[in-house]
Amino acid sequence: MSMVRRVGVIGCGLMGSGIAEVCARAGYDTLVREVDEQALEAGLARIQRSMAAAVNRGKLTEAERQAAWERVRGALSLDEFADRDLVIEAIIENLDEKRKVFAMLDRVVPPHAILASNTSSIPIIKLAAATKRPDRVLGMHFMNPVPVIQLIELVRSLTTSEEALATARAFAESLGKRVIVVKDRAGFIVNLLLVPYLLDAIRAYQDGVASREDIDLGMKLGTNQPMGPLALADFVGLDTTLYIADILYDEYRDSRYAAPPLLRQMVAAGFLGRKSGRGFYNYQRGEQPPS
Ligand code: CAA
Ligand code: NAD
Repeated sequence: MSMVRRVGVIGCGLMGSGIAEVCARAGYDTLVREVDEQALEAGLARIQRSMAAAVNRGKLTEAERQAAWERVRGALSLDEFADRDLVIEAIIENLDEKRKVFAMLDRVVPPHAILASNTSSIPIIKLAAATKRPDRVLGMHFMNPVPVIQLIELVRSLTTSEEALATARAFAESLGKRVIVVKDRAGFIVNLLLVPYLLDAIRAYQDGVASREDIDLGMKLGTNQPMGPLALADFVGLDTTLYIADILYDEYRDSRYAAPPLLRQMVAAGFLGRKSGRGFYNYQRGEQPPS
């Protein structure tokens, strides 16, 4: 098992910013990459806001916040990842884009480094095959919001070594997370079960079975969940939900994973959920899911 001291995170969107935050809060030197200056600034600002929220909620002291923030550094070039022991990729859910990142990282990081993907649905072997270190590639699937949700799904591909898995497990536990280990098939376990549920809720809304509020309240109160499925899809991001559905449908050709036309249309309209200000609810106008 190798030691992880320096961590890299590729992508500083919803998930990348959360992953960088928990790594820095756990004491790791954390370098996070975005595509351009504007996206990097937005991502770093998201980390700062979340750390400040943690202080306000009494989860972090001001001194810990400051120390954690000092461990975070932004980058635009992948060349800066040459000293990283572990790099976690959290860019958009697109196979070609992820394969490009894995191939480039493989050329830059040291031979001992582990490359992990936070993919929601893509089989890890397809990313491992873009590198010359398939034994040191695995899935490390964090849940949204990363600082709050306890779980990391570790995904072991056909080629992942025992040693890489052990290193990833020790690292995940050092972040204060609980770990499950899952076979490398599209959607792993959480999204294999969660995504058909979200898609069914969107289909029910599309078909007029109930109002968005009643669908959400029905599942929130009826099954004692923190939020209903339409609110959760908005929270995950409707673009991300659609990308995941398309990947799962491509893999399994099962109608459970077929994206409802309404979801596709909302994404085409730019209604991406909370992150764009509008999804099933119009947050810009102050609408909120029922509480
Ligand atoms: N750092 C540390 N702790 C934080 C925090 C932060 N930045 N922000 C919030 N918290 C803590 C709060 O202090 C609070 O902790 P306590 O219960 O100990 O007081 C807890 O988190 C909940 O916070 P709130 O009370 O403010 O918020 P809430 O009760 O309205 O819950 C929520 C918000 C956590 C988002 C909750 O609604 C929830 O869990 N929703 C479901 C989320 C979910 O299902 N995520 C998985 C999505 S699927 C996925 O991620 C996989 C994929 O590939 C798509
Ligand atoms: P997001 O759209 O919020 O962020 C993606 C970010 O990646 C964007 O800021 C984009 O600029 C950046 N990016 C794209 N190409 C890049 C590159 N080559 N280098 C660096 N940055 C790049 O998406 P997200 O919700 O953070 O999802 C990221 C990954 O995490 C996806 O694979 C998604 O499936 C997975 N995931 C998402 C959730 C969720 O609830 N949203 C939960 C678990 C896993």
